[in-house]
Amino acid sequence: PHSFKHPDCHELSDNSLVITRMITVPFLDQCPIRGLYKERMTELYGYPKYSCHFKKGKRSFYFYNTRVLYVQDSLEGEAKVFLDLNILSDDGMVALRGYACSEDGEYFAYGLSASGSDWVTIKFMKVDGAKELPDVLEKVKFSCMAWTHDRKGMFYNSYPQQDGKSDGTETSTNLHQKLYYHVLGTDQSEDILCAEFPDEPKWMGGDELSDDGRYVLLSVREGCDPQESNGITRILKWVKLIDNFEGEYDYVTNERMVFMFKTNRRSPNYRVINIDFRDPDESKWKVLVPEHEKDVLERVACVRSNFLVLCYLHDVKNILQLHNLTTGALLKTFPLQVGSVVGYSSQKKDIEIFYHQFTSFLSPGIIYHCDLTKEELEPRVAIKGIDASDYQTVQIFYPSKDGTKILMFIVHKIGWFSSHFLIWLWWLQQIHHTQLQKCFDDFQCAAEYLIKESYTSAKRLTINGGSDGGLLVATCANQRPDLFGCVIAQVGVMDTLKFHKYTIGQAWTTDYGCSDSKQHFEWLVKYSPLHNVKLPEANDIQYPSMLLLTADHDDRVVPLHSLKFIATLQYIVGCSRKQSNPLLIHVDTKVGHGQGSPQHACFHSIVPEHRLDSINSFPLPPDSDRKPQGSSWPPLC
Ligand SMILES: *[C@@H]1O[C@H](CO)[C@@H](O)[C@H](O)[C@H]1NC(C)=O
Repeated sequence: PHSFKHPDCHELSDNSLVITRMITVPFLDQCPIRGLYKERMTELYGYPKYSCHFKKGKRSFYFYNTRVLYVQDSLEGEAKVFLDLNILSDDGMVALRGYACSEDGEYFAYGLSASGSDWVTIKFMKVDGAKELPDVLEKVKFSCMAWTHDRKGMFYNSYPQQDGKSDGTETSTNLHQKLYYHVLGTDQSEDILCAEFPDEPKWMGGDELSDDGRYVLLSVREGCDPQESNGITRILKWVKLIDNFEGEYDYVTNERMVFMFKTNRRSPNYRVINIDFRDPDESKWKVLVPEHEKDVLERVACVRSNFLVLCYLHDVKNILQLHNLTTGALLKTFPLQVGSVVGYSSQKKDIEIFYHQFTSFLSPGIIYHCDLTKEELEPRVAIKGIDASDYQTVQIFYPSKDGTKILMFIVHKIGWFSSHFLIWLWWLQQIHHTQLQKCFDDFQCAAEYLIKESYTSAKRLTINGGSDGGLLVATCANQRPDLFGCVIAQVGVMDTLKFHKYTIGQAWTTDYGCSDSKQHFEWLVKYSPLHNVKLPEANDIQYPSMLLLTADHDDRVVPLHSLKFIATLQYIVGCSRKQSNPLLIHVDTKVGHGQGSPQHACFHSIVPEHRLDSINSFPLPPDSDRKPQGSSWPPLC
């Protein structure tokens, strides 16, 4: 009864906004409880969200709801609004994309993007009095922001002037990024070119200052070169120290010329090594903390001069440990609740750490503060979140196609098991692009498990994913239309044969492969959502209800992915008599890929658990269930 058929679907205009206005919105408007859902989702999403504090000089900063930055002169001091994105633009469509405070806490640089584009404008403020400075940097994208410790200026990246548009609606590729140094108080045209890679147009080189401020580390994807920093006046001569691309190197700290890195070079679970840059040959590297056989080392930070804090992932739970910086030896383990550490901050010269922990999928988490000068490690709550104690999380293992046991979390309301739950899946291993089909199999096996165990039925099962996850759910719809009731794909990569031709898409060829290679083409064409839409053969099988979400200023996964996919669905599937489930797209205007957007623009990312094809039969929650639960959907924004 809720199916919508355009009377003449072969003649649809490909203008995305027309499709949204003429088809999707009128269809959704028929839904009798839409207003109620909107109200409830706005309520659920409206819980306060804080970030970890980060300190610079004496000052301490933290974010509230990702859009308001507060500053305190000391941890106990009064918190003052320092930067409020909500008042920077009338329509709330300006997002913060990167920031950096000078080492002494006196100057602050921040990147702003309009309408969700990846293009950024960098501005500067004097922290004292929150005074805006005249410096402005343009043509910035995927940039580092690193102040030299003399706080005379900052490194950043920009792209050469390109022809045509750069407002986030373009699709041209981004090549030849360059590294510059901007001297505070001068015009951008005078900025010093510090690194460029004319022979390697795809390289992006980001800078980082060493803790002691004496060296600049230039990382090119997985390469890493330090350079003496001493008054930046001309193109820098870089000393190449690691020139293999077979590993990541995250700078931790250095003691003069001995640099410490977290690396996965010859250690897939990561380890901590020291490289003496006077003799950087790989055979001379010293292992400080060896690789753990099972647990993945996610984070390493130096604190209180000669301590290290290590964060491991152990059975999808995080562990925080304190180690000796000189010997690498384990000193203590932090008394952590079961959960995941989603934010962390500390400085080498500080005595304290902050961390943000999620203990439940339904709570925004709690921020802890721990003073390391105390004999016992006693994390204290710095900012408390809301606890959704009405909900319960169960952890189960289910078998995938090849028998591998996969962990799945099932979150449901206590005592209310049947119709109202969310699932999250965690992939414990990075999957090589030749084996992406494994991901799809794992996901489909999860659906089969949930149906077999009577948690749900195929008709009532909704799958939702964004970006890579959009590709996943769209592929699953193509491969197993019978297994799902509704598919919601947000800003998905739908054309895996051509993604590398648009904006920053070429950077994902390491994940997906690239159709320019015959061999890769053969893998990609097997699952590319756009190229695998076909009408199910069996008479009683149709496509699930499909909702694609994209945005006209998404210059990360450009909207043509979703537009081509919906057009193909409509052409191949939508015209069939047996397809009564709706095939819908919603195109947001003036927003992008979903980072840093204001709450109302993200509203579309928050999808209630109801299925579009069973609007009438979906049970309304009783009144008592309509109170806010502090539900935290995957934070796509
Ligand atoms: C680290 O180990 C060294 C060598 O055993 C020792 O001298 C030093 O005091 C230890 N430092 C800490 C912070 O435990």
